[in-house]
Amino acid sequence: MDTPNIQTRRLILRPLALSDAPAIQRHFNNWNIIQNLPFVVPWPYPDDGAEPFIRQQLEKIAAGEEIYQWVLALKSGDGEAIGNIRFTPKPDQPTGNRGFWLAEPYWNKGLMTEAIAAVNDFAFRTLGVESFYVSNAVSNVASRRVKQKTGAEFVGYIELPHHNGQTKSERWRVTRESWLGRSSNSFRR
Ligand SMILES: CC(C)(COP(=O)(O)OP(=O)(O)OC[C@H]1O[C@@H](n2cnc3c(N)ncnc32)[C@H](O)[C@@H]1OP(=O)(O)O)[C@@H](O)C(=O)NCCC(=O)NCCS
Repeated sequence: MDTPNIQTRRLILRPLALSDAPAIQRHFNNWNIIQNLPFVVPWPYPDDGAEPFIRQQLEKIAAGEEIYQWVLALKSGDGEAIGNIRFTPKPDQPTGNRGFWLAEPYWNKGLMTEAIAAVNDFAFRTLGVESFYVSNAVSNVASRRVKQKTGAEFVGYIELPHHNGQTKSERWRVTRESWLGRSSNSFRR
């Protein structure tokens, strides 16, 4: 299935496209974002880092890999990409089934929580996924909060080196049963 367009209260999630390269290059090339990510992301970020990344993702998708790749845009904005979510629901992959980042000026307004709730609905209601695993560095308070607010259950620690030197990571499981069975707003605090 292709990555669908999804609308939330404040956001449009639309499939990643080559035309998003300038906005991603501008917003993602930021130590405050990349320090929280594993070494698979290069730092210093190359001047032309976004375009080859997008090309590679689109090639993998065209080759049949099950990768859902969205950019986030504000409904109230000009349509520019201000963030990215990657979702790869592979049951045999114990971590890294989802990745996300948001441009720094938009942090702490609940936007990623809103987007991830919609992606959970897509995963569990549309795709019928049973469960998947996600992770974050133990130092990444914001990413942990997004997980806590969107139904993830803490399952333990793994070793995964991040740019900021943090190697201890939290591992979480998100299940269909838990997400669909939640009462309204039960994961918000
Ligand atoms: C992680 C990230 C996407 C969160 O996006 P966001 O839209 O700001 O997230 P939300 O606003 O939905 O939720 C953030 C929560 O973290 C909390 N938070 C953020 N920094 C915090 C801090 N230093 N101490 C305590 N809480 C903090 C916010 O208060 C909020 O929780 P609340 O709703 O209970 O108040 C964004 O911070 C980001 O892009 N970080 C860099 C990249 C990254 O870490 N990606 C994830 C890798 S696993």
